[in-house]
Parts: sequence; structure tokens; C-alpha cells
Amino acid sequence: MYRTHTCGELRLEDTAATVTLTGWIQRIREMGGMTFITLRDRYGITQLVFDEHTPLPVSEKLHGLGREFIIRITGKVRERASKNPAMPTGDIEVSPGELEIVNRSEVPPFTIENDTDGGDELRMKYRYLDLRREPLQNNMMLRHRMAQEIRKYLDEHAFVEVETPFLIKSTPEGARDFVVPSRMNPGEFYALPQSPQTFKQLLMISGYDRYFQIVRCFRDEDLRADRQPEFTQLDCEMTFVDQEDVLNTFEGLAKHLFRVVANYEYKDRFPRITYDDAIKYYGTDKPDLRFGMKIAEITPQVQGSGFKVFDDAGYVGGITAGGCAGYSRKQLDELTAFVKKPQVGAKGLVYVKYHEDGTFKSSVDKFFEEKDFQEWARAMNAHPGDLMLILAGKREQTLSALGVLRNEMGNRLGLRDPDAFAPAWVVDFPLLEWDEQEGRYSAMHHPFTSPKDEDIPLYETNPGEMRANAYDFVINGVEIGGGSIRIHTRDLQEKMFHALGISKEEANAKFGFLMNAFRYGAPPHGGIAFGFDRWCAVMGGSDSIRDYIAFPKNNAGRDLMIDSPAPISQEQLNELQIKLVDQQNKKE
Ligand code: AMO
Repeated sequence: MYRTHTCGELRLEDTAATVTLTGWIQRIREMGGMTFITLRDRYGITQLVFDEHTPLPVSEKLHGLGREFIIRITGKVRERASKNPAMPTGDIEVSPGELEIVNRSEVPPFTIENDTDGGDELRMKYRYLDLRREPLQNNMMLRHRMAQEIRKYLDEHAFVEVETPFLIKSTPEGARDFVVPSRMNPGEFYALPQSPQTFKQLLMISGYDRYFQIVRCFRDEDLRADRQPEFTQLDCEMTFVDQEDVLNTFEGLAKHLFRVVANYEYKDRFPRITYDDAIKYYGTDKPDLRFGMKIAEITPQVQGSGFKVFDDAGYVGGITAGGCAGYSRKQLDELTAFVKKPQVGAKGLVYVKYHEDGTFKSSVDKFFEEKDFQEWARAMNAHPGDLMLILAGKREQTLSALGVLRNEMGNRLGLRDPDAFAPAWVVDFPLLEWDEQEGRYSAMHHPFTSPKDEDIPLYETNPGEMRANAYDFVINGVEIGGGSIRIHTRDLQEKMFHALGISKEEANAKFGFLMNAFRYGAPPHGGIAFGFDRWCAVMGGSDSIRDYIAFPKNNAGRDLMIDSPAPISQEQLNELQIKLVDQQNKKE
């Protein structure tokens, strides 16, 4: 028998019991003729103590032990003289009478403790060791709990879990496809799904009414902290629903997960913000509502005073940082450098300090008077003691830069409470967006998203103005999910493809199966997909989805542990009838 208990289980009531434990050695400490070993498994850590009562055959083995050895011990549970309230097993220790080395370990490349000395690359290479650490184990447990609770909740709400294929044809989510060559069909390729979008719609046409799947999706796109080339979606679809039905159903799920996974009670209805308002007040379609600091436009108030930057701008607006009138030169220089970063994109920053005594000090004192500043302060809801931060330029870019600056100020002022959850639905997205490069419209969500009924006539006159029955789910400024009410008639789908500049032939070649299915009694339907890794990360209070994926890829899309991607053999290439372009020739 390897164990009678786990390493996280023993308590004061177990004192005097004889137990057998098996686990990894986390640490060995010698103190005043005694040896302490902390023994670890998935369930926790138990302290073993070796002293003058330890039988000689056991104490003789001690010098041969090292970190990450697996040992099995049998011994007596004792009450600890100095208890450790930070450890669930901190009231007891075990005094082994028998000890056996189950397996040895080389010295691990980094310490396997909560605060490790291992760098990112090293930990990715030895991911199986990193996964032994408690923070990562907690993340995996949170992910597991999320998945179980999602299944439970959706099952109770009549959702059916259906699997859809991975070897398919290009899907319409707008990223590049990962492709797989077909040996049996030389010269032809499968594409891995960017999402199960078309399949879940077909399942609605098949009458399954409510579908869900926790499913891997594949997108060949540039990677960031919140993006992996293969990631997991909670994908859902419902029949005979309108937008509010979908939002209410998944608001229920989100509240359930807040409650059971994060012990967080969210009673109110989630705020619903239109896309236009999100951009206007937060400079982004994924606003962090844990704090206010809304953006205010002051274009009419600032123009006509001879300050060229403002006079020539399409938009002037700003945010008010409460209590920051005392900011130093250095702090303001830092903020100016911040907004000028390419990823923020502003040309400069104008500040106005609204001092406690009611006077103003600004970087544009030459052009404006006290009464101007007073007017701005009114528009920007600034009070004595506050700092107004103002940007000017093209409307969209300036709002976006203000959105980034707002988040930055939220960070600096500690307004983004790590223990709070601020969910929101962003609704009424535009249906189409103009693609400058391609010189045509593309779908803001995807081509199967329906327009608002009243906007349908705009297909002919002003497609850019059409609004979609599309919605995003946001928590703490992170886009957790997105979905829409779909088009379910051939006519409207054809119109949509036309607006996107997709020819009948192309539409037929790519999505003919769906267009055909629309001929056979397609019910009205809609749904949503959540980024499951992102949702887990946000629930766990992290920005990085990698920490919530057991075996993630790095930013170059590589798995450093298995060293993938990798070349394949000439035999494999021959079998697939694939000839590689010689890299050397290609460069020449
Ligand atoms: P969308 O493309 O918005 O919608 O994707 C849904 C959610 O998936 C997450 N996500 C990602 N997570 C990690 N890495 C990535 N590379 C990545 N890309 C997307 C985001 C996003 O909100 N078929 C539609 C859904 C629908 O209409 O029902 C779709 O896939 O959290």
C-alpha cells in the first residue's frame, strides 16, 4: 500500500495514528540535530520530522535523499510544538518509523515552490515540473471546477453536448487557418476549425434546440498573453431565441460560476452597454467597469483659441484622474511618454491641474484662461484636487488612446480591484467594418450574424451604418465571449455575402452546405462562444491564459517541451505528395 492518507489530509484529531504517506520531497531542512522534510502531493504538504526517536535504519537513509525524490514513509502523527496556521496540516507532523525511496530524482532545473527561481523558458521546457507547483495546480483545479460547473448548469438547462469535427474546411472567424494535408486525397487539405460556428448552426437546423461544447479551436494569428494558437471555447447555440434570451441564459451561467468558483455573489442584472457608448465613454469595446473615470469629449469647448493641436483635431477629449493634481513633473513626463508609445499612439498629452485652492496649472496656459479651464472641468466632471488628462487627434484613434490611458491610470491609482468582478454585455455592434487594405467591408463578428431588422434596407444604401444582433461578454476589461443572432434564410445570407464582396461561386464553394441547409426549414437561432481559457484566467485573477492551460505554446507558437513544430521525414512528405520549397532558393 502506498498511502493511507494524502499529504493534505492529516489534522490534530489524527494525533497518535499510524499512517503511511507517499509523496515528493519538497524541502529538507536540518536544525539542531533534527531533520525536517516537507512531503508534497496534489493535496498538500505534510511535515516529517526525524529526531533522536527515529530508528537508525531510517535516519541512515536521510543523507541519501534529495529534492523531488519520491519516498514512502510509515510513522506516527504527533502534535507540533510550533504550529503553522498557514498550512492546513500545520498542527501536526509525522515521525517516520519506516522510510523507503520509491524513486530518485535528479536535481530539478528550478525550485518547485510557490515562488520559483525558474525563468519562463526553462519552466516551459520542464512544464511537467512547473505543473507540480501549487499555483499552477490551483489554476488547473479552477479550470476543472469551471468545466464541471458549466456542464452541470447547462445540462440542467436542457443543453446537449455534441462534438463536432476537427478535420474540416475553412471557417469564417477571420484568422488564418491551420491546415492538414490529406494523404488519401493528394493535393487537398483539411483546415482545423477556428470555431465550430457552422456546425452548431447545422445542429440547430437538425432540431437539437440547445447545444454546447467545450471545444478546442485553432487560429493561426499573432500571439499575446490572452491568445494561444489552440485555445478552448465554451461554444453554445440556441433555437427560437432573441438576443435577450441568449444574454439572460448565459448571465445565469456567469452568476453561477461567480458563486461556486469564486465565492462571489453578483445579484444585479449585468450592465448592457451599446458599442457606441463603450467607445464614447471607455475608448474600447471591452471596458473595465471596476472603475469610473469616463472619457469626456471637450472638442467644442477647446476649439478656436489658436492652439493648433486642438483647432486641427477631429476630436479632443480626456479623463479626470481624481486627487492627482499634485502629480510631479516626472509623473507627467512618464504619462506623456506612455501615451506616445506606438501601441497607444497619441502625439502628446495636455494636462490641467485643478488645484485644491481652485486655481489651474496646465501645459497649455499660453492659449487658455481660467474660465476655459473651468468650462472643461465642468464637462469633465473635475473638482479641485483633480488632474485632467487630455488628448487630441482623429476621433477613433484618440478615443482608443484615451481608453488605454484610462486603464493605465486605473492601474496606477489601484482602481482595478483584483478581488472584484465587473461583468458587462456590449450590444448593438456594427454589422460591418470597412477594411482599408482590402477596399471592402468585412464582417465585424462573422458573416452569419444577422442585422437588426430595421437596418436591413441599409444593405442597399449604407451598409456601414447597419447594426448587428451581436453582443460581447466582458469581465474586468477582458473580452470573454462573443455571439450573435444568426441569419437563417438563404436570401438574407446571400445579401450578406454580397455586402462582403463574396461572389456567389465563392460563397457556394465555402459555405454551400449551410446555404443548402437553409432550404430545409432552418429555425431562427443564435448563440455565443466564450474563451474558456480567458474566463478561467479572469476568475483566477490573472492576465495570462498560459497559466490556465496545462501545456501551452510560447509567443512564437512553439511547444518548448516537446519541441514542436518540427520537420517531418522525407517519407512522410512523399506520402503526402508535398515538396518543400528549398529555403535557400527562396531567399535568392
Ligand atoms: P470569437 O471569434 O469572438 O467568436 O471567439 C469567442 C471567444 O473566444 C476567445 N478567443 C481566444 N482565446 C484565446 N486565444 C485565442 N486565439 C482566441 N480567439 C478568440 C475570446 C472570444 O471572445 N463562432 C464565434 C462565436 C459565436 O458567434 O457564437 C466565435 O468564435 O474570448
